[in-house]
Amino acid sequence: MNRPRFTDSNDGQPALSLDAVAASVSSSLDSTSVDTSAETTPDPAPRKPKRRATAETLASQQREISVSEFFSKNRHLLGFDNPAKALLTAIKEAVDNSLDACEEAGILPDIRVEVDEAGEGRYRVAVQDNGPGIVRAQVPKIFAKLLYGSKFHHLKQSRGQQGIGISAAGLYAQQTTGKPVVIISKTDRGRMARRIELRIDTRRNKPEVLSDVEVDWEEVNHGTRVEMELVGTYRGGRTSIDSYLEQTVIANPHMSLVYKLPKMAEPIVFERAAHELPREPLEIKPHPHGVELGLLIHMMHDARGQSVKKTLVESFSRVSASVAQQVCDMAGIPSKTKTTRLTGDQIEALHNALGKVRVMSPPASCVVPIGEDLIIAGLQRRFDAEFFTAVTRPPAVYRGNPFVVECGIAYGGKLDKDNTADIMRFANRVPLQYQPKACATTEAVYQTNWKAYQLSQPKGSLPIGPVAVVLHLASVWVPFTSEAKEAVAHYDELLKEMRLAIQEAGRRLASHLRARNRVENELKRKTLFERYIPELGSSLSKITGKEAQKVTQSLLDALPNFVNIEPPPDPDEPDSSPPTPSMPPPNDVLEGEPPESARPKAKTAAASSEQDDEPDEPDEPDEPEEVAEPPKAPEKSKAVEPEGDSKSKPRKAKAGSRKRRPSDGQLDLVK
Ligand SMILES: Nc1ncnc2c1ncn2[C@@H]1O[C@H](COP(=O)(O)OP(=O)(O)OP(=O)(O)O)[C@@H](O)[C@H]1O
Ligand SMILES: [Mg+2]
Repeated sequence: MNRPRFTDSNDGQPALSLDAVAASVSSSLDSTSVDTSAETTPDPAPRKPKRRATAETLASQQREISVSEFFSKNRHLLGFDNPAKALLTAIKEAVDNSLDACEEAGILPDIRVEVDEAGEGRYRVAVQDNGPGIVRAQVPKIFAKLLYGSKFHHLKQSRGQQGIGISAAGLYAQQTTGKPVVIISKTDRGRMARRIELRIDTRRNKPEVLSDVEVDWEEVNHGTRVEMELVGTYRGGRTSIDSYLEQTVIANPHMSLVYKLPKMAEPIVFERAAHELPREPLEIKPHPHGVELGLLIHMMHDARGQSVKKTLVESFSRVSASVAQQVCDMAGIPSKTKTTRLTGDQIEALHNALGKVRVMSPPASCVVPIGEDLIIAGLQRRFDAEFFTAVTRPPAVYRGNPFVVECGIAYGGKLDKDNTADIMRFANRVPLQYQPKACATTEAVYQTNWKAYQLSQPKGSLPIGPVAVVLHLASVWVPFTSEAKEAVAHYDELLKEMRLAIQEAGRRLASHLRARNRVENELKRKTLFERYIPELGSSLSKITGKEAQKVTQSLLDALPNFVNIEPPPDPDEPDSSPPTPSMPPPNDVLEGEPPESARPKAKTAAASSEQDDEPDEPDEPDEPEEVAEPPKAPEKSKAVEPEGDSKSKPRKAKAGSRKRRPSDGQLDLVK
């Protein structure tokens, strides 16, 4: 057999054949008494793996998975991944439902939250509302059947979306303590309440009623109380229940809240700050620009043989008969074709045409922001600050869903000046406390150049200073990153609107800070003059022979001509009066030609858009002329400075009231 040989021609050593290498390896292996026969004998042919199961045996194991079983194994997907979060999530789901139910029924919400220790690491939670109550037949399905609710199938702004929140909380309680969920509900003043104990049959995702009795619940006319016992951890900090409740109060000034948490001697009471309910959000149909192919197939199927044109008009928002005709023409489908006759290709052509047809944006009346005045009122309830402002952006659209972004800022006062800003995120008035880094709201704060607004901001960090920022997204469908509804997805349209809202509020803050600095400087000058005036008075008295006290008094009287200190604000002026809670009027058109009334606002947005497109890096402050400008008339009332010393209340001099400076003319020192 010809084998290749290694030769080393350089050192003249004898060439080493592969046979020799094999022999030496073999002998060395021999010396460690390892059997090398396997190395030399060829590998046996790979054995055919033994069949472990047949299609038939596998089929015998295949069965439907109940949604309750799935979520009891994957409860982290719903926000029940650790005891601290689980306790908060359970309360949050119940409070969200209570607020939704009250608002839907047109009732100003009175919410009560009680959390008591029930043994080592166990808590008893009760959430009570004065909502419409729940009819007896619905109680078991609502609280002990996952994916059951009234909101999923409607395109309408609400806190709940998925039909899973409260039953998931009950499931967690049942899994961790084995205790049933207890519901007490009363639907009218004259009626008895029902007290129902429930358990979920996780295998079948069906409710089991353990007890159902009539009870006298005299203290309420109508409402619902949910009680559950669960394993949890009660702790403080940003993700605490306290923080969640306080933030809920900010975003829902129309609610009154009483809560008692473990170790609290007395319950905490938040009276309502607004006595009007938010405008009722209208339900809308899907917008043609946002529809997905799968949904369109369903719509055509559900139309059961109606004409394509009629189906389009009835199923979509903003699709008139003429728009529907255009869509059919673009898709090359006769408008009278029955939906049952449509082929897959034709539906796809329809889908393409729907995406391209020119059509108005969805009606903005379906989105209900908190409103600038109420955000300020909410911030004032929570923070003892020196300056408050809020901005509500005009409605915009992402994937066919209308949305509105709002930003509120509280500055100074007792806010911590050495820490990073307190960022409070909200979606449909619900505080978001987990996953800040994954949330579009936080990203928008990071992307903003806060140095332009007189705050320090280390590179890639949040702003530092005595600032609290509220960012609220109101939409018919909030694009959460997961079922736990913890963070908002990074849609470009959302991020842009968030940045614009922050920039607008930031400019107002900068304007306030500049004015405050001016006043502080003038105050320093005034103190300096006051210190030297007596000395100057006595010297002048010697020169003029006038009485020293009179001379000094004249100098003091003339002081306002030297220093431009503003008088304390007139409480009757709209600028300093507390804000009157009111909701912004609904704006009915979003895209295309804005309505006449919306034009001035759209103009402001356009100016801001230009700024938004600027590179973020240059840390140059805004042009002084731009920022030093006082807020325009309609915005002025939105920046609120609480009453206090004149230091924190800089105001522009009124026209014609400019004080004379020394250079303006002769001073009448001595009368
Ligand atoms: N306190 C309540 N008063 C009146 N109805 C309620 C109350 N709590 C829940 N409901 C009804 O029960 C349904 C199911 O509530 P659940 O929290 O499970 O889902 P959801 O609120 O629809 O959506 P999400 O899963 O996003 O919270 C609600 O849609 C609502 O119709
Ligand atoms: Mg809910």
